Amino acid sequence: MKKENLPKLSIIITTVIAAFITQVAGNGVHLLLPPPIRCARSAEGGEGIDCTVEAYQRVWQDRRPCRAARAVYPTTEAQIFQAVAWASRSGSKIKVVSRGAHSITKLVCPGGDSGLLISTHYYNSLIQVDPMSRTVTAHSGVMLRQLLDAVAYYNLSLPHTPYWQGVSVAGVISTGAHGSGLWGLGSALHDYVVGLRLVVPAPPHEGYARIIDLEDGHEDLDAARLSLGVLGVISTITFKLEPIFKRSVTLELKGDDDLEDEIVRFAKAHEFAGLNWYPGTRKVLYKVDDRVDVASVGNGAYGLSMVEKMTVQEIESIRHALDVLEETQDGGGVCELEHMAVLNRFHSGDGLLNDGLSFKGYPVVGYSHNMQTAGGCEEVSSPMTETIINLPHFNDPSKDCEGITDTSMESITKNTIYTCFWNPLINRSIFFYDVAISVPMSKANDAITEIKKLRDLSPDILCTLGSLGGFWIRFQAKSKAYMGVAHDSVMFEFFHYRAREASLPRFRQDLFEEIEQMLLNKFNGLPHWGKNRILAFDDMHRRVRAMEKFMQVKKKFDPFDLFSNEWTDAIFGDGSARTTAQSLNKYCALEGLCVCREDSHCNPSRGYFCRPGRVFNEANVCRHEDSIPIFAS
Ligand SMILES: *[C@@H]1O[C@H](CO)[C@@H](O)[C@H](O)[C@H]1NC(C)=O
Ligand SMILES: *[C@@H]1O[C@H](CO)[C@@H](O)[C@H](O)[C@H]1NC(C)=O
Repeated sequence: MKKENLPKLSIIITTVIAAFITQVAGNGVHLLLPPPIRCARSAEGGEGIDCTVEAYQRVWQDRRPCRAARAVYPTTEAQIFQAVAWASRSGSKIKVVSRGAHSITKLVCPGGDSGLLISTHYYNSLIQVDPMSRTVTAHSGVMLRQLLDAVAYYNLSLPHTPYWQGVSVAGVISTGAHGSGLWGLGSALHDYVVGLRLVVPAPPHEGYARIIDLEDGHEDLDAARLSLGVLGVISTITFKLEPIFKRSVTLELKGDDDLEDEIVRFAKAHEFAGLNWYPGTRKVLYKVDDRVDVASVGNGAYGLSMVEKMTVQEIESIRHALDVLEETQDGGGVCELEHMAVLNRFHSGDGLLNDGLSFKGYPVVGYSHNMQTAGGCEEVSSPMTETIINLPHFNDPSKDCEGITDTSMESITKNTIYTCFWNPLINRSIFFYDVAISVPMSKANDAITEIKKLRDLSPDILCTLGSLGGFWIRFQAKSKAYMGVAHDSVMFEFFHYRAREASLPRFRQDLFEEIEQMLLNKFNGLPHWGKNRILAFDDMHRRVRAMEKFMQVKKKFDPFDLFSNEWTDAIFGDGSARTTAQSLNKYCALEGLCVCREDSHCNPSRGYFCRPGRVFNEANVCRHEDSIPIFAS
């Protein structure tokens, strides 16, 4: 990059970092997230007609819309039963969409474009805690925070939950979402499921639908606990609980020289161990996170700043900074800034708050349900059956916005509207890829060593990762779920820039592609079902614990594949053929829709050609012809 661009870029990126670590104290208006389903018309009983489902960043990975003929909003199991019976009688495709619908993959799209959507937005009235058996049973549409708080009231706790609270309990288990830790049953919420009720299609003589009640120990529960929504509609879920406990968290900032040797020991040493690795600046932020007695002093909380409310001003300036970084192709400046960001995270407590309000020093001790799962911006406006969203009450700051149109954005102060950084109602929201791949713990050392080789090709080569947190590394124990991890595993997650335009390559995308393909193919990684780009979902048979067993249960519960769509068909194939979810079109590798096989899958007119990986030679990546030469070999 040209020297004169540097100061300006520094200022912009400093803004980025500041925004990600600053607590937002909101006095302004809260711009709610749009509901995922939008329908052109409404019909009797609150049904929607002629609907689309949007991704949480609005655009799906393949940039193709997801359509359905009807949407229903049940509040009772009987209504779910009716909806499934109707679909089964008419042979209609069907899918469940939760309130948050936060997945990146097309799990919520019914097959074809005339299917039925069942929204669980209002299916959330049951949260029944049984203190004697230490279980909780909840409707599938209950949101995670609701469940955590209800359970805590009874002095009980779900030991492991994901970091983001804006998800429904059925969504969490059905995508395999998890926290971090190898002890006991591990960190995935689906492994704590001890009961599940599903509504599935049935033959005419049974009334076209039936209820399946899976109790603890039932073998089909290992299919249903992580089902990608293809077995039927989950009605209620029962989770095993533990007595309430506290956690003590200390962050340790260290160099990454011995990370590959340390990682397994560290993962085993702490019940909730996790870490962030910044390969560019060679730093690791270890999260030393252990269970302590409930009587321990401390009422701490975790406020992960990325998922709290930010102002539209901040969001747009972050996106702008990332755009500038793409345009200027800066490397070195970014490393300095990454270094600052890491230090800042460490010294600021990284969202940990000793008294729930401010950070005063490590360790931070607090109730487990306040120390893991965070949010603050997740509220979704009510489902609306019109395409036009109501204008918010901008003149009355005490009122939350129900929605907002793009054109009204300019007329209000972006400093006083708070929302999530991905809110697609903001024209220039942050738009990104989320890569999250688990590799067996036995490969953790090799995976880190190989990523380091790539990093060592050039001093500043991986620093752009730092702008969105480096590698987020979490641990998972071997799962009971057929579609879950087959081994104790380490998940590598990273976020990277996505261009608004499909044909636009990104700065050093070859490196991100190489890491992605290395984790998947060299180390037999398992992509997170709710995240990742389409290319990751290739040959899933050999990645999950027991896909054949899962498919047998699927055939039993949904013999006519009403809950399947094009995407899940590609994953499951017909059991014999090794199908692929990839599609080979122009620019497909830029979008993560394929692994490139020829230059047109990249963008030759912008200088990006399909080339082998530099460390993992079997990778095929889109590389700029002028990009840095290899000096290791
Ligand atoms: C939870 O524990 C606290 C403190 O021991 C106690 O005061 C409270 O009554 C308990 N709550 C329930 C619902 O048992
Ligand atoms: C939103 O983005 C589009 C595409 O870049 C642009 O054409 C449009 O003018 C933008 N609208 C506003 C209100 O910024």
